[in-house]
Amino acid sequence: MRTLGFGLAVLLAVPAIVAGAAEPGQPAGFRPGEVWADTDGKPINAHGGGVLFHGGTYYWYGEIKTGRTWAPESNKGWGGTRVEMIGISCYSSRDLLRWKNEGNVLPAVKGDPKHDLHPSKVLERPKVVFNAATKKFVMWMHVDSEDYKLAHSGVAVADSPTGPFRYLGSLRPDGAMSRDMTLFADDDGKAYLFHSSEDNATMHVALLTDDYLKPSGRFERIFVGRHMEAPAVVKRKGRYYLMASGCTGWAPNPARSAVADSVFGPWKELGNPCRGPGAEITFRCQSTFILPVAGKPDAFICMLDRWSQFDLPDSRYVWLPLRFEGEGFVVEWRDAWGPGDL
Ligand code: DGJ
Repeated sequence: MRTLGFGLAVLLAVPAIVAGAAEPGQPAGFRPGEVWADTDGKPINAHGGGVLFHGGTYYWYGEIKTGRTWAPESNKGWGGTRVEMIGISCYSSRDLLRWKNEGNVLPAVKGDPKHDLHPSKVLERPKVVFNAATKKFVMWMHVDSEDYKLAHSGVAVADSPTGPFRYLGSLRPDGAMSRDMTLFADDDGKAYLFHSSEDNATMHVALLTDDYLKPSGRFERIFVGRHMEAPAVVKRKGRYYLMASGCTGWAPNPARSAVADSVFGPWKELGNPCRGPGAEITFRCQSTFILPVAGKPDAFICMLDRWSQFDLPDSRYVWLPLRFEGEGFVVEWRDAWGPGDL
């Protein structure tokens, strides 16, 4: 594996819209949990994803999950099924409903079993931010060995939102284990990596360097001993909000939410924000991203994955409206809805 010793220079986008009743490419709206077709009529393949809005277009990045699902011997005790690593997909859209496949923007690297991106490894939860100073698109992601013992964050960079992304390497940020993660770009130009650390017991929030390519060295431990995964972070009216899950592998559990006045905390937990049928297990889903809708100051979409543990490629997307209420936010179930409802 190529490990980034930071200091040295190894720098070397189906909740568903669906397709349901609509024609491919002409979705009627979001249909959470149904197969969601792209503009070619193929199921969107972008799991554990996140969305970047840039130049009037949304870019959705996610894990490509294709082919056979199996449980490696090392993971059988906890149900850690997997597929072969293929890479990271990117889809583009201007209306959040119709998504065009822009291809595999960070493909697996065959031929070198030691490489982080070898098909035998784990590549999860890619998130991309744009650095206005360097004009680069920077992707961070969870990179791991098949048994999830490596616990690294990986970094890649591109000149265009649709890639190709150049893989820079991986590391344990600030020397700490790193699994589920998200990126958060603040309005002052600083960016942060939130990642499940300390064997998933405690989350870390790490300030990145100004170019977003490395940890700066400044970090805080948050939600100490709370065992949280699947972080998603958003800012509204000067306050920071986080949604996450507990740690139960691919199985769903009650979502968590929290609020803070500073990205480094203290964070105040507010409980499960989900409302409606199945809310107690996050509608059988796990959070992945909170998407601010461009041009609508108070419109947010909660992006979730409904994992299919024994057929991972059939995992579905559940996108739901996220609404602020009282001290926190709520995520309400909808069978069908559209961005115009926000
Ligand atoms: C839960 C995590 O949130 C997922 O990203 C993935 O790592 C699974 N665990 C693996 O079981």
